Amino acid sequence: CKYSDSQCLVNVINQIFREKADTGDAGLDLVKLEPLAINRLRIQKGKESPINIDLVLTNNNVYGLKTVKKHFRGFSKDLTKRHELRMHADSLYMIGPYSITGKVLVLPIRGEGESNFTLSNVDFTASFSGKTNERDGEIYLEPVKFALDASPERLYYNFTNLFNGDKALGDNMNLFLNENWEPIYREVKPELLDGFAIKFEEIVKKIFSKTPYNKILLE
Ligand SMILES: *[C@@H]1O[C@H](CO)[C@@H](O)[C@H](O)[C@H]1NC(C)=O
Ligand SMILES: *[C@@H]1O[C@H](CO)[C@@H](O)[C@H](O)[C@H]1NC(C)=O
Repeated sequence: CKYSDSQCLVNVINQIFREKADTGDAGLDLVKLEPLAINRLRIQKGKESPINIDLVLTNNNVYGLKTVKKHFRGFSKDLTKRHELRMHADSLYMIGPYSITGKVLVLPIRGEGESNFTLSNVDFTASFSGKTNERDGEIYLEPVKFALDASPERLYYNFTNLFNGDKALGDNMNLFLNENWEPIYREVKPELLDGFAIKFEEIVKKIFSKTPYNKILLE
């Protein structure tokens, strides 16, 4: 692609997602994206937060990244400018084992089992700046100052086996969480997105450290 040619980048990235998402690609140093493994994500909020929880997700998988549609900004000849990827997914699912203790809007919550967070119609923007990194006479883009934002139209929570499997308490809590999905999401968003940002940073850094910038983008 030529510098700043957003449409070309979108086409290439969509093609890579279609062809490589299920397997990853050793040549591109790309990890498997469908599903994307999140080994550990901890959301810990103190007493000052209305969502005073300690939530640990281990070995979770995110499904749905394959279907994202994208728009890019940046990627001009000056690699130190800000680069931005805008994406949309109809549905993203984060699924796997959880454990939680604490209080959600004054209600105690406790449990260990499988959770399913579903984000529907989610727009997200990932951006980073570039630092020039010279190696063996070639110029590489080193991504720095990552930022990630995500706005779902709705978020659905489903925790199985809350309160040692007490069905009535568990069903009520899930109902309560879903009725209050938005204030809860607002509170946990920074920690939740940090977990994703770290993963995203890892992926982007690998791709740009593999190939010189002027071989990824051309005059
Ligand atoms: C997760 O929840 C969504 C609905 O909120 C559902 O469509 C999907 O099938 C669930 N996935 C699993 C693996 O339970
Ligand atoms: C939550 O997940 C469980 C197990 O997958 C399922 O039986 C239940 O119907 C789900 N609840 C909702 C509200 O989606």
